[in-house]
Amino acid sequence: MTRLGLANGPNLGRLGQREPALYGTATLAEIEAAAVEWGRERGVAIEAFQANGEGALIDFFEAGVGRLDGAVLNPGALAHYGWALRDCIAALPYPVVEVHLTNVFQREPFRHRMVLAAATVGQITGLGAIGYQLALEALYARLQGGAWASQAGQNLQGGGQP
Ligand code: DQA
Repeated sequence: MTRLGLANGPNLGRLGQREPALYGTATLAEIEAAAVEWGRERGVAIEAFQANGEGALIDFFEAGVGRLDGAVLNPGALAHYGWALRDCIAALPYPVVEVHLTNVFQREPFRHRMVLAAATVGQITGLGAIGYQLALEALYARLQGGAWASQAGQNLQGGGQP
């Protein structure tokens, strides 16, 4: 059975209450339940995880080696300074897609620096909660093969400078 991780970083456990005008009203539990339902319809197991600490996220991704086929990650603010998490993702044998609910490039300048992005296979930013589903679809398509799995720019992977 295909297994995909769904990891969320600091402050995302408070989705629904946290600045809803920015991040929306859906709770993380609702988003995780929607992902599990998405997986059930496709025969994909979803392993959901949230932590406020960088180390716990690294532990989750390391524990996924040999078990997960891919993962979706909203790293929260770690996207902008999480170098240890970046090194972890760069060394994983499975692909990670980065998701942000908000369009970080429309926000404060400190959010424009994306230190994980070059270690991930791609990013979805600014589309709200459906970004998680789109990221899961992208990982699933990669694993299924066929036209949607056709890769572009993968020769660049790991070569980008943050
Ligand atoms: C976020 C964007 C980050 O800059 C911020 O620190 C978050 C949420 C998003 O989903 O839009 O915690 O990752």
